[in-house]
Amino acid sequence: DASDIEKGTFDHYMLKEINDQPAAMRKIIQEYQDEDENLKIDQAIIKQLGDADRLYVIAAGTSYHAGLIGKEYFEKWAGVPTEVHVASEFVYNTPMLSEKPLFIFISQSGETADSRAVLVEIKKLGHQSLTVTNVPGSTLSREADQTLILHAGPEIAVASTKAYTAQIAVLSILAQVAARELGKDTGINLMTELAKVTTAITAIIDDAPQIEQIVNEYLETTRNAFFIGRTMDYYVGLEGALKLKEISYIQAEGFAGGELKHGTIALIEENTPVFALSTQEKINLNIRGNAQEVEARGAKVCMVSMEGLEQDGDTYVIPHVHEMLTPLVSVVVYQFIAYYAALHRGNDVDKPRNLAKSVTVE
Ligand code: G6P
Repeated sequence: DASDIEKGTFDHYMLKEINDQPAAMRKIIQEYQDEDENLKIDQAIIKQLGDADRLYVIAAGTSYHAGLIGKEYFEKWAGVPTEVHVASEFVYNTPMLSEKPLFIFISQSGETADSRAVLVEIKKLGHQSLTVTNVPGSTLSREADQTLILHAGPEIAVASTKAYTAQIAVLSILAQVAARELGKDTGINLMTELAKVTTAITAIIDDAPQIEQIVNEYLETTRNAFFIGRTMDYYVGLEGALKLKEISYIQAEGFAGGELKHGTIALIEENTPVFALSTQEKINLNIRGNAQEVEARGAKVCMVSMEGLEQDGDTYVIPHVHEMLTPLVSVVVYQFIAYYAALHRGNDVDKPRNLAKSVTVE
């Protein structure tokens, strides 16, 4: 029950939950490590991964966005083909399945009816399932073969924040374990890198007043906003746009940087805010090119880059972390942007209109 959980000194649960993220990261690092500091996952889950020829990630909303990042880990680290699906579509438009699929349900609450509908169907087909959830004993946890817990602590605000970063962290651990079992050297000490992520998130939290200034400059009067990025930064843009829509009611759209010019750029007017993210070396120049394309049409670009890739004039620079883990850090900037945009508009930050924390009807 929400009333049992203290907001403490925070004005809103969302602000508290954004601030909870470093502690949640530390908890995950602790929970998924054994005494010898090796990654630790239940043997039964390792077997599920070993037996699968393809992963099907099923989720909704923010959890779906975390799944998109998870796919990068499963494919790039473990070499396991992975598809990510919106639950409500999958039920009625099931794609061709591989011979030995493993279904991974990502759900903060473990109660989303759309995801449960998929679980019911794939169980009838005799397929294996794993639920990644924040809530032990939730419906999706009870009904799936195996469960991984997020350890993010209760999330009360409707707009999901710490569950998203916890989901990505747990998926990264799962993918590293899969890589280890398959004998693949990923060249990364994940727990060391996650510890750096924790420090980086803390640095951004300390910068909250500076991010509030970005909101003052870019979002006070606007009707709409765009979030562009490429590769993983694109997925973070989708989440940034969703956060902003959910609580500020500003119409926001996340786009692949290179795709904007194929239609949507028609919407760019004088002073349209465009948030551009650049945390990946191989696309740094490309996304900056895309930013110039919209700037030339009047857009007001807020460039968020990562230390090491930054250029003069960037609006905000996040601390350097491992390139595969940047979503855990960059998203925090977008969480704060959404929070302050909603706050400044006088909206109910924790309980936005028309939305529920978990949707238990299909
Ligand atoms: C609702 C919430 C979203 C959430 C989605 C999936 O729509 O408003 O914030 O991302 O459900 O929830 P789940 O609990 O399955 O992660």
